[in-house]
Formats: sequence, structure tokens, C-alpha cells
Amino acid sequence: MTEQKAMKLALDKVGHAWLGRTVFEDFDLVLGEGEVVALAGPSGCGKTTILQIAAGLVEPLRGRVRRHYRRHAVVFQEPRLLPWLTARDNIAYGLKVAGRGRAERGAVAEARALDVGLDRDDLDKYPVELSGGMRQRAAVARALAVEPDVMFFDEPFTAVDVGLRRALQDLVIAAARRARFSALFVTHDLAEAVRVAHRLIVLSGVDGRIVDQRAIAGEPGRRDNRTVFDIVEGWSADPVFAELFDADRRGRA
Ligand SMILES: Nc1ncnc2c1ncn2[C@@H]1O[C@H](COP(=O)(O)OP(=O)(O)OP(=O)(O)O)[C@@H](O)[C@H]1O
Ligand SMILES: [Mg+2]
Repeated sequence: MTEQKAMKLALDKVGHAWLGRTVFEDFDLVLGEGEVVALAGPSGCGKTTILQIAAGLVEPLRGRVRRHYRRHAVVFQEPRLLPWLTARDNIAYGLKVAGRGRAERGAVAEARALDVGLDRDDLDKYPVELSGGMRQRAAVARALAVEPDVMFFDEPFTAVDVGLRRALQDLVIAAARRARFSALFVTHDLAEAVRVAHRLIVLSGVDGRIVDQRAIAGEPGRRDNRTVFDIVEGWSADPVFAELFDADRRGRA
């Protein structure tokens, strides 16, 4: 897929260290147009660091990042809404920064809010008046509102309950198809990776190296529950995923 489609983002031989301690070296990644790549690996292996470097939030110590897109947006594990703004103004925040007019901002915020399953009534609420799941929906709507070409997700649905997590995954899949954005999607959850992504990269918890990368059969949104289950089940005996399944068995998901 990556070969035929235009490259949107590339990390070339990127390496990083925090406080003198190397997290990973020689990390390569190419994100194709419309491609969703899941990044999985045990806690502390460097997934967030890679995402921050890819999104330009952190400057890598080594290597380079090439970006062939206009706009990106990030969805973090926590919603990070501004508490003094209503849901509407939070969702429209990026548009305000971009200098778009009030009427347009309101219309876009409302459309994206409905896309993510918020009600019109919710738009006048402040973050404190929204449930955790509604806040995360608003965070996704805020990201979609700027019409990004590339989206970065850092374990965005870990803190929401299982049913809602599925709904939010479906929403991301639908949005990616509709808006044709590319995405880097960090997750601990292999079933989530299988649902949302075209391709999976697995990092080692030992040295942050890529243990494996593989295309996931079928298309995001077209894999039914049985298929997702079978793919993850098929991986459970694969040494590539040993560190991830071990972490799960220790109760870390
Ligand atoms: N800003 C920072 N300053 C110092 N050390 C950091 C910083 N951010 C991350 N680290 C360290 O870098 C390593 C990788 O962290 P990172 O957050 O990238 O891992 P992760 O794979 O996202 O983990 P998790 O799955 O728990 O979110 C860890 O040892 C962490 O302590
Ligand atoms: Mg992280």
C-alpha cells in the first residue's frame, strides 16, 4: 500500500534519548496517503516519544522527519479540553487559531460534534459538565474540525469503557475513510489495532526496536468481530507479540 500511495510522513533513522538514556535508534516509518498505521509495544518502549517526534512536538536527537501534508491533529489519551470554553468553542478552537469566522466555526463545530455522537445540547456545556466519554468525543471532534491530512492518536480510547471504545474506533475508521486522512495510531490493544489499521508495527520493550511490521488482512471497518478475534488469537502464539501478551497477562492492557 505504502509503495503505490503518496507518502505523507516519513521518519528516517530517527533516534532519541531522554536524559541521556537511549529510547530507540534508527526508527524508520513511512505513512502513505489514507493509510492507518498502528504502533504497539509494551509500556515505556517509546511509542509516545515516536508520536511526539512524528507530530513535531519533540525534536529528535538523530535522524529526520519529512512531512508532505498541510495540517495534522493529535488526539491524546486524555481529552485535554480547555475548561473555560464550552464544548462548541473547544471543538472550534483550531479554527479560531486559523482565523476562521465565528459563523463558520459554529457550523463546523456542530457538524463534527454530530459526527462523533454528541447532541446539539451538549455543545453549550463546559467540559466539567460532560462525561469522560463525551469529553473524548469532543477531543476527536476538535481534531477532525481542522480537516487534517494526518492524524496522530496516542492511546485515545484506553480510558473509556469497552462499549464506547468500540463506538469511537468505528467513528475514527469512518472519519478516516470519509476525510481520507492518514493516521499513526498508538495502542496497547491488539484488537483495537486490528480494527482500525491497515498495518501494524510492533516495538520491543527491551530496546525500542521494531520487532515486526505486517499488513493486516482486509480493510479497516470491513473486518467483523469474528475476523478481529481470529487475527488476534492467531497472533497469541507468535513470538513477535510475546512481550505484549505477557504484559496483558500481568494485568496491563
Ligand atoms: N519528557 C520526558 N522526559 C524524560 N523521559 C521521558 C520523557 N518522555 C518519555 N520518557 C521516557 O522515555 C521512555 C519511553 O517513554 P514513552 O512515553 O515514549 O513510552 P510509551 O511506549 O509511550 O509508554 P506507555 O505505553 O506507558 O505510554 C520511558 O522510559 C520514559 O520514562
Ligand atoms: Mg505512551
